[in-house]
Amino acid sequence: MSHFPGMYPYTRMRRMRRDDFSRRLMRENVLTANDLIWPVFVLEGANTREAIPSMPGVERVSIDLLVQEAEAAAKLGIPAMALFPVTPQEAKSDKAEEAWNPDGLAQRAVRALKAAVPEVGVITDVALDPFTSHGQDGLMDENGYILNDETVHALVKQALSHAEAGADVVAPSDMMDGRIGEIRDVLEQHGHVGTRILAYSAKYASSFYGPFRDAVGSAANLKGGNKYSYQMDPANSDEALREVALDLQEGADMVMVKPGMPYLDIVRRIKDEFKAPTYVYHVSGEYAMLKAAGMNGWINEKACVLEALLGMKRAGADGILTYYAKQVADWLRNP
Ligand code: PBG
Repeated sequence: MSHFPGMYPYTRMRRMRRDDFSRRLMRENVLTANDLIWPVFVLEGANTREAIPSMPGVERVSIDLLVQEAEAAAKLGIPAMALFPVTPQEAKSDKAEEAWNPDGLAQRAVRALKAAVPEVGVITDVALDPFTSHGQDGLMDENGYILNDETVHALVKQALSHAEAGADVVAPSDMMDGRIGEIRDVLEQHGHVGTRILAYSAKYASSFYGPFRDAVGSAANLKGGNKYSYQMDPANSDEALREVALDLQEGADMVMVKPGMPYLDIVRRIKDEFKAPTYVYHVSGEYAMLKAAGMNGWINEKACVLEALLGMKRAGADGILTYYAKQVADWLRNP
């Protein structure tokens, strides 16, 4: 006897969910190693690794160990790594000159990686926070305000020094106005026509960056306590589209949204509007939450991480920067 007066439900959504074969046939999105960009923290020294208390399982490593990590990443099919140098306190200054030192830590790390593991794409972070004594991403006036055009001038020097060291992709994460165009100009003028720009276009002033600032040692230094005068307000979404439009016009090849999970609506809007290569940064605080809950046995870490990253693909991301990259590539290879 039917509970549907006069008819059966002709459309039974559960039919396709019934068996593994039909679930696989109608699966719309898939996460693969090709989607992963692995952010890594680089230290001075040799054969040195340091744990990061707020990011269990993530370490800062010296360049020689970084090369070994890159070899492992290549074997796992991870396309690219993003480098974050940990600058010794004595190399920091108000004007962040260390940022464009041709023999700086980032520049040396790029050269070592490109020499040893050329097939792994190397992405460098263009921003001054690891190099300023005040921990802000730009140059500061006497009132603590971050100066736009002066900072862009410094970022251009930094990006050029990364390209000269052999970086495949420079990734400005500073949120100054006009920096993509200026960086593009200088790269073209110096013959670096193939260097890609991954713009942190919609970078929010997020509290989820806390563990990262511990990892690179910029937290203790952070004068002013926040980055509200240049990073975006988490309340806004139209503004993200304007940022992306500008960065693409100025010559960005790839655009990014950051953080990830709380901002997937932004990823979807950007992908729908621009159809450009779009990335999302699964940031340090997101890593820390999943890791902590997993370590406590409160969630199934592997299942939750794979679900979180698949959700980013479904939202429209072409790739994901995640501290879980190596672990995920390994899980995907050995399920
Ligand atoms: C700084 C930068 C930050 C991150 C990447 N580049 C932190 C910040 O803006 O304070 C955060 C990454 C993360 O939390 O994983 N230029």
